[in-house]
Amino acid sequence: MIAVMGLGFVGLTTGLGLAHRSGQQVFAYDADERKRELYKGKRISFHEPHLQEQLERYGGDRFIVCDTMAEAVAQADTLFICVGTPSSLSGETDLGDLQRAVRACLDALEQLAQPKPYPVIVIKSTVPASTTTDVVQLLLENRGYRIGENIGLAHNPEFLREGSAWNDFVQPDRIIIGEVDPIGARRVRELYANFGVPIHCVSAHTAEFVKYASNALLATMISFANELSMIAARIGHINITQVFHLLHEDKRWQGHPAKMTDYVFPGCGFGGYCLPKDTLSLYAHAGHYGHEAVMLKAVLQVNEDIKRHIVEQIAASVQPEGTIGILGLSFKPESDDVRGAVSRDIIGLLLDRGYSRIVAYDPMAMENFHNAYGLPIMYADSVEEVVNRSEVLTIVTAWRDFKDKQNLYQGKKIIDGRHYL
Ligand SMILES: NC(=O)c1ccc[n+]([C@@H]2O[C@H](COP(=O)([O-])OP(=O)(O)OC[C@H]3O[C@@H](n4cnc5c(N)ncnc54)[C@H](O)[C@@H]3O)[C@@H](O)[C@H]2O)c1
Repeated sequence: MIAVMGLGFVGLTTGLGLAHRSGQQVFAYDADERKRELYKGKRISFHEPHLQEQLERYGGDRFIVCDTMAEAVAQADTLFICVGTPSSLSGETDLGDLQRAVRACLDALEQLAQPKPYPVIVIKSTVPASTTTDVVQLLLENRGYRIGENIGLAHNPEFLREGSAWNDFVQPDRIIIGEVDPIGARRVRELYANFGVPIHCVSAHTAEFVKYASNALLATMISFANELSMIAARIGHINITQVFHLLHEDKRWQGHPAKMTDYVFPGCGFGGYCLPKDTLSLYAHAGHYGHEAVMLKAVLQVNEDIKRHIVEQIAASVQPEGTIGILGLSFKPESDDVRGAVSRDIIGLLLDRGYSRIVAYDPMAMENFHNAYGLPIMYADSVEEVVNRSEVLTIVTAWRDFKDKQNLYQGKKIIDGRHYL
């Protein structure tokens, strides 16, 4: 059976949703007595479609509101923590409620006349990557528990949106389980088994980070649109609403997965003739009209930082006298265009650091690259030759050929600049 601690938007929805979907009985507790009394009377404390009727349906039956944490813990073997994790004054996450809730769960477990064989604590609250292991696991271990032996721990991020919390919970895009111990992860997986959606078991850090990646992406897109609206207002005579409606007609937003996902993916930076120059141009143009486009500036800055980051990774794996293999010179696959190519910048940075033995291969762009930049590097005739001649391989362009030949790279150090293999 399940216990849910913290009955705000996420906890109440999780409790009712699991009662509905898993068919198990859920024991729910909130530190706020007013909320507990309301829920016991089958009334919800905030507006959220469907939750009122689900509380009426399951309240007092499959969804039991408990007066104490101990009462909830006594009934359950899987304990979901759904308390708030607000920002502290410094902007960092305040984990006070989370730590108090976990401690209270442990107090309750220790008060039981008959110890539970293997309780599993599931952190559903949004927490910074590493919290589940570095804070919660530590807390458990300091109380004498051994993860994987007498207690389980998992992170299970929640992606519901207020306003559609119920539908988002019962029909999620996917379930993510951050595994700390296999038994704990399996327990959570079983609870979601009949949701009919993909269930991904990943490291706890990964699960924690996905939630922030998701929200930061949404926030970035909103601020991007707003920055453009401010630039447009300065320039004048631009219907920014129309601009965005027209942008949405780009077919790359359509399909599943939408082609736009190619752009929301890590790599070693954008290059080519258009993206760098047009982004820079818009930044400069906004400045001309008196608007400092900070987001565009940051976009360009990150595009420089990522190339330096890749070069740091290469430098960490090969001495200056060693040979570096570069796979891919064109700015993108299926093209021989090398204008603004990331390969040029990465090779330039390596040469600046004193690496003189660089051997490169590209299926189409070697001649163009040599003619355009005339850099003092060696060119190979094939992927095989680059592999044989170099100590470390760096994939800079995501040519299909490089993926097809990945069996050649066995035993080689690879910096996969396109997260491609
Ligand atoms: N609201 C959302 O849309 C949303 C979506 C996804 C994830 N999240 C994350 O889920 C978590 C919960 O969010 P929320 O919106 O439900 O928060 P909330 O503030 O609405 O609810 C938290 C509840 O926890 C209770 N609580 C605090 N300390 C407690 C304790 N020690 N024991 C028992 N109950 C305790 C509070 O009384 C409150 O009712 C946060 O980490 C949030 O970031 C929120």
